Amino acid sequence: KHVAVLMGGLSAEREISLRSGTACAKALEEQGYRVTPVDVGHDVASVLAPLKPDVAFNALHGRFGEDGCMQGVLEMLRIPYTHSGVLASSVAMKKDVAKVVMAAAGVPVPKGRVVHRLEAAKAHVLQPPYVLKPISEGSSFGVFIVKGDQAHPPQELMREDWVHGEVMLAEQFIAGRELTCAVMGDKALDVIEILAADGGWYDYHAKYAKGGSKHVLPANLKGNIYQEVQHLAIEAHKALGCRGVSRADFRYDDRPDGTGELVVLEVNTQPGMTETSLVPEMAAYAGFSFGELVKWMVEDASC
Ligand code: DAL
Ligand code: MG
Repeated sequence: KHVAVLMGGLSAEREISLRSGTACAKALEEQGYRVTPVDVGHDVASVLAPLKPDVAFNALHGRFGEDGCMQGVLEMLRIPYTHSGVLASSVAMKKDVAKVVMAAAGVPVPKGRVVHRLEAAKAHVLQPPYVLKPISEGSSFGVFIVKGDQAHPPQELMREDWVHGEVMLAEQFIAGRELTCAVMGDKALDVIEILAADGGWYDYHAKYAKGGSKHVLPANLKGNIYQEVQHLAIEAHKALGCRGVSRADFRYDDRPDGTGELVVLEVNTQPGMTETSLVPEMAAYAGFSFGELVKWMVEDASC
């Protein structure tokens, strides 16, 4: 099979996608596929049409790659592609819309509201501590955690060169533990707890620098919380209509009496596939090498 690995692209997560794509392209070659790497620009349709790959391996993250646009191009070209389709991709990418859809399916999500970035820069939009995040961004770009004792909202939101969209999601900060769980087909993989290295949060550095965070796999959780995370990962994947592999990120407000709140923060339809990424680690724990994982994705592709 001839596989076009779509990578790079036009979003803020371009560098991450190049890392994901390079790793996937190498692994697919080792699995015996003929591989053509494609750095995605606005002319991607005219590149793919004559190339006629059997499958497009989507290693893009963020805008134009994860939000349904690329998926729509591939539908038009009738090229089978990995991961989620048009609607699931665009719904999951818009965090506010995704929350409404998940909540309607009974998946618990944090309370919050949508604000304009300039409104969020002027005065506190919620009682601190709270989180401000772009509606359609990944890899923690443009995310602010406003601490309990912070006098002013983040002034960076006023910058003229702000590139992460005009609309933000404000959510009450949930103290507690960061968990993540991927779905592969119709099965949940095992749950990872993320411990940011210096006691900070799982920001861009913690996500992608070697040693930037510690992953506990399987996460050490009491009672039925572990199974509940896996169950909600599948429910969120289904509610959004995802396909192939997705990864749900959670916050768990652990309390000694076991009454802690567990919420889904978001579902990533194009989860990172770099060497420090979570999905390859979960897959390895389930017995899939990186090569077997990307092969599974290619064989699962459709349009
Ligand atoms: N947005 C990054 C790539 C992730 O969710 O893994
Ligand atoms: Mg994300």
